[in-house]
Amino acid sequence: MQNQTTQKHIGVLIGSLRKESLNKKLAQAFIKTAPNTLSFHIIDISSLPLYNEDLETPVFPESVITFQKELLKTDLLLFITPEYNRSFSGVLKNALDWASRPVNPAAKSPLFGKKAAIAGISTGSIGTAVAQSHLRSVLQVLGMQLIFQPEFYLKFSPLLFDEAFLPQDASLKALFSAFSDALSRAL
Ligand SMILES: Cc1cc2nc3c(=O)[nH]c(=O)nc-3n(C[C@H](O)[C@H](O)[C@H](O)COP(=O)(O)O)c2cc1C
Repeated sequence: MQNQTTQKHIGVLIGSLRKESLNKKLAQAFIKTAPNTLSFHIIDISSLPLYNEDLETPVFPESVITFQKELLKTDLLLFITPEYNRSFSGVLKNALDWASRPVNPAAKSPLFGKKAAIAGISTGSIGTAVAQSHLRSVLQVLGMQLIFQPEFYLKFSPLLFDEAFLPQDASLKALFSAFSDALSRAL
């Protein structure tokens, strides 16, 4: 059993809010297959209001304050997003806009200098590749340290996963393992 103090904490932001989301299931697959050196937990973005600069005064919304505190506690952020109209989802962009505005004006954004990785699954043939490319450029502007390889984008097929949405295809299992290794090396 890994000593809790040496475990690295990975916050997972999921760009889909729907109940049966493939990306939520992919996040659960990361949680279930994680080596015991990595602990993944989902950071909820569903209760963030739509970004509006007026809401920053007199004080930021409670949900934004909680969200930024959660981000600060992580060693790395994993963004898991669907592709909507050849980009990443609006809910994820909304979360990034809130994260880019530090609650404490003397501090930097909780994203600045933070390590980040991206994964995603879609029903389309390019499996979120374009969404990830857009997301990468935004994360770089926010000063995040990106892990570029291996790229993790999938076109959904029921043959790739078992009933519990764990990888069953050999090359997908290898990708999960290579991805975790890359996160571990970066931490
Ligand atoms: C508004 C909308 C736009 C979409 N655009 C794309 C797209 O550009 N590329 C793609 O691969 N899939 C696209 N899709 C299909 C989604 O990838 C698919 O619905 C996916 O399952 C959504 O992710 P989720 O299951 O995590 O909710 C789109 C779906 C919606 C609802």
